[in-house]
Amino acid sequence: MKKDLRKVVIAGNWKMNKTRVQAAELINQFKGVSDGSDVQVVVCVPYTNLETAVGAVKGTSVKIGAQNVHFEESGAFTGEISAAQLCEVGAEYVIIGHSERRQYFGETDETVNLRTKAALKSGLIPIMCVGESLDEREAGITEEILSTQIKLDFTGFTADEVKKTVIAYEPIWAIGTGKTATAEQAGEACGFIRGVIAKLYGQDVADSVTIQYGGSMNAKNAAELLAQEDVDGGLIGGASLVAADFEVIIKAAMA
Ligand code: PGA
Repeated sequence: MKKDLRKVVIAGNWKMNKTRVQAAELINQFKGVSDGSDVQVVVCVPYTNLETAVGAVKGTSVKIGAQNVHFEESGAFTGEISAAQLCEVGAEYVIIGHSERRQYFGETDETVNLRTKAALKSGLIPIMCVGESLDEREAGITEEILSTQIKLDFTGFTADEVKKTVIAYEPIWAIGTGKTATAEQAGEACGFIRGVIAKLYGQDVADSVTIQYGGSMNAKNAAELLAQEDVDGGLIGGASLVAADFEVIIKAAMA
């Protein structure tokens, strides 16, 4: 199966939650679960928790990520954090272009493209988010939206750079709403994205790139979503804040 060619990545997106003390407590509850398996568990924490989180996962296979990165190396960009600064504290992944950043913080496909390039240049693994809104889905233009985002977000990338990027398909209408895409909808959209990658960068890149589903993935629906041929993991918000639920999701990916 082609699925075996790809790395399964289960990433928690904590958003703006948890203090440092709470971060260490939460991580300590699930950190050993995936050891010895092929599943890569990643926890994307607020900047202020990065150092604590990196310390907490030491000796396990869990990796730590941030939730954004600036595209310049340094300079007069008040409030921003560079890729080198993330690497220095031990972050290995970074979420880029999350729909909340696109919606509330002026993120565009152009800045997603620049941030992803900067992340890769520093050796960070980008988790690049794409996805359609409810209006777009209802208007029947999901595929146009996804292919446009993929084309713009990867403009100027080499096949190798695309291969190193994790893509997260996150339908905006399913994020934090409790409305999950059905397993079929998730599988279909991830498969469609893989098809776009195949056209642009070749079948070999498409077969090996990790494509996650995100949007109200939880302990109950994870197994069904993760069983889809084109779903190679999950980007999990709410359920990643509850150790027992996150553990069930990790185990579903390991099954
Ligand atoms: P959710 O968030 O799991 O709470 O829907 C997912 C995300 O925003 O990445």
